[in-house]
Amino acid sequence: MVNKFTSQNESGVSEYQNISKIAQEKYFDTLVEGIQIEEDWKIIDIGCGTGNNTFKVSKLVGKDGRVFGIDPIKERIQKARDVYQRPNLSFHEAFGNQVGQFEVEFDAAVSSTAMHFLSSEDKVATFKEIHKTLKTDGLFVFNLNRLSLLTFNKMDVIAGKLGCFDNFYVADTPAELEDICHKAGFRNVRVEAKDFPVKFENTDHLVRWYTASMHNVGYEEIVAKMKKLYEEDYPNDSLDDPVIYVDQYFMCYCQK
Ligand SMILES: C[S@@+](CC[C@H](N)C(=O)[O-])C[C@H]1O[C@@H](n2cnc3c(N)ncnc32)[C@H](O)[C@@H]1O
Repeated sequence: MVNKFTSQNESGVSEYQNISKIAQEKYFDTLVEGIQIEEDWKIIDIGCGTGNNTFKVSKLVGKDGRVFGIDPIKERIQKARDVYQRPNLSFHEAFGNQVGQFEVEFDAAVSSTAMHFLSSEDKVATFKEIHKTLKTDGLFVFNLNRLSLLTFNKMDVIAGKLGCFDNFYVADTPAELEDICHKAGFRNVRVEAKDFPVKFENTDHLVRWYTASMHNVGYEEIVAKMKKLYEEDYPNDSLDDPVIYVDQYFMCYCQK
């Protein structure tokens, strides 16, 4: 099991906190709309980042409910703690395979745009740990980037050249994902493909969102490199025009 990503610099974390909402909120909301969260539920958000979406979930459960956000990047967890406080909400530095440490039986585990960092083998290992922490019939819902439009999104082409996807696992198909979930012990597995077109004000806005999300690379340095490559590769594009970026995701729902 390879546990990567443990830090991001302050400017990257702050930028992520602000700018991720434009897209990551949509991916998360769409995922969670697929389940009926109840007031007393105990929920864990795996790979919660700076906690923007974890906070929203904590408002859906009442005082008898509890929400835990976990992420391996300590600066993101610190930012989440600084920005979001509620009695039923807590944030912890941890990887997805460390969910057992809370000694809580969860009604649901959610994970948005995080599980694509795990190989198929590591997904099975992590999902088994998640399965153990759930109540009988508990739900595990997650989404992951398909990156199948690598040749369509200009920014993905540039990011690929800069090695930003070196830590992504893109081989999963719906059938492979179903198999991974079954191997981890889940049943009622359902995988849905969904496209998310996101409109950015201009190329600068897109580059800043993209690079803040890419916590596996530096921040200022990669922003500058991306912009430079964009200008070189697409000289006819005006960097001031609005940009539509289409992200493709798999939404996965399964049950213990
Ligand atoms: C694109 S961010 C998404 C954050 C948040 N879920 C959101 O919607 O804004 C992906 C997060 O997954 C985390 N991550 C990466 N590998 C992980 C793992 N093995 N277990 C848990 N989280 C992981 C990263 O640290 C990062 O903060």
